[in-house]
Amino acid sequence: MSVQDLNTRFIEKFGESKEEVRVFYAPGRVNLIGEHLDYNGGYVLPAALDFGTTLLIRPNGDGVVRFASTNFPYEASFAYSEIGAAKTGEWVDYPSGVLVELAKKELPLTQGYDLLFHGDIPNGSGLSSSASIEVVTGYAFLTLLGGDTDTVELALLSQRAENQYVGVNSGIMDQFAVANGKRDHAILLMCDTLEYNLIPFVTGSYKLVIGNTNKKRGLVDSKYNERRSQCEEAFAILKQEVPGLSYLAEMKPEQFVLHQDKITDETVRRRAKHVVEENQRVLDSVEVLKKNDLKQFGLYMNDSHVSLRDLYEVSCEELDVMVEEAQRIPGTLGSRMTGAGFGGCTVSLVHEDDVQQFIAQVGEAYTRRTGLTGEFYVCSIGNGVEELKGEK
Ligand code: GLA
Repeated sequence: MSVQDLNTRFIEKFGESKEEVRVFYAPGRVNLIGEHLDYNGGYVLPAALDFGTTLLIRPNGDGVVRFASTNFPYEASFAYSEIGAAKTGEWVDYPSGVLVELAKKELPLTQGYDLLFHGDIPNGSGLSSSASIEVVTGYAFLTLLGGDTDTVELALLSQRAENQYVGVNSGIMDQFAVANGKRDHAILLMCDTLEYNLIPFVTGSYKLVIGNTNKKRGLVDSKYNERRSQCEEAFAILKQEVPGLSYLAEMKPEQFVLHQDKITDETVRRRAKHVVEENQRVLDSVEVLKKNDLKQFGLYMNDSHVSLRDLYEVSCEELDVMVEEAQRIPGTLGSRMTGAGFGGCTVSLVHEDDVQQFIAQVGEAYTRRTGLTGEFYVCSIGNGVEELKGEK
């Protein structure tokens, strides 16, 4: 939907006013490599997508915040003092959580606002539609109220909204990528210190193809939290062996080999092995990307998937089938699951001449083997959060 169409929808919903409607946008994200490392203090390599959430916002002067969306029928309106008082279990909990965090900054929020959201990220697909809503809301209010729009702080604020208000114990990667992405660049983020570098991701005749398994992700939160506590357990043991170790991902693979026997629980040992090796793969990936060696990068993507499947056990049959079929296509350099796992999306690097064959063949085989219909998006890497001043 164009910004012009969205403006029309906004006026239909909230009426005319002499106040200006401002338009903001935040993308979704895809993680290229470095999975389940953010909460282990490791390196990750996500990138912002070229689709996301658009927010139209206008002050209304009546002390009430009204939320509407073109994607969901659910709408809500809260007196300023009621925001965050009770969770709704609906999409508005994401922007409400951000307003709760903004209120702690004592910004002059009280005059009331009308908000219309429009998202083109498939929900529940693991492409961070929630982080996109959080970050666009935070950025819009901070801009309107003259607050600090530092995008690292904004990512942290949005993560707090997700962790403390929505109640999902995620790491910093998603909000960070959505807030700090740059066109044609991946973000090498050190999750412990939040230092980051933008790495040119120039793929030439290769395209990033995201495959949505459309598998409903069940029990993600409880399994995610279980992985987090297994990593904490491994870290507590290894820290005794290596004084000064400040987080699990800091351990080098050679060091891990020397100390792994101390972890007696075989499952916990495998979880730690994934973290240590995946972290090294991110660093190795950056080196090969600097040399433009996409072929080797593709092999690291494949290795990452195997590790997530066998060691970290966050893949599922649907993701495995889609990755396996993707890797059969001659023009595929690499393919892996992306995001938390247990469903959601795969990401593949595919030669442009083979993309049509990829979509047809992987799609057909996926349906034949799983009974589900996959969806594919050929995507480019876009910018992080911004205000749209012209037509997008
Ligand atoms: C989800 C979380 C992120 C990260 C990934 C796994 O997307 O929100 O913080 O942990 O899973 O890499």
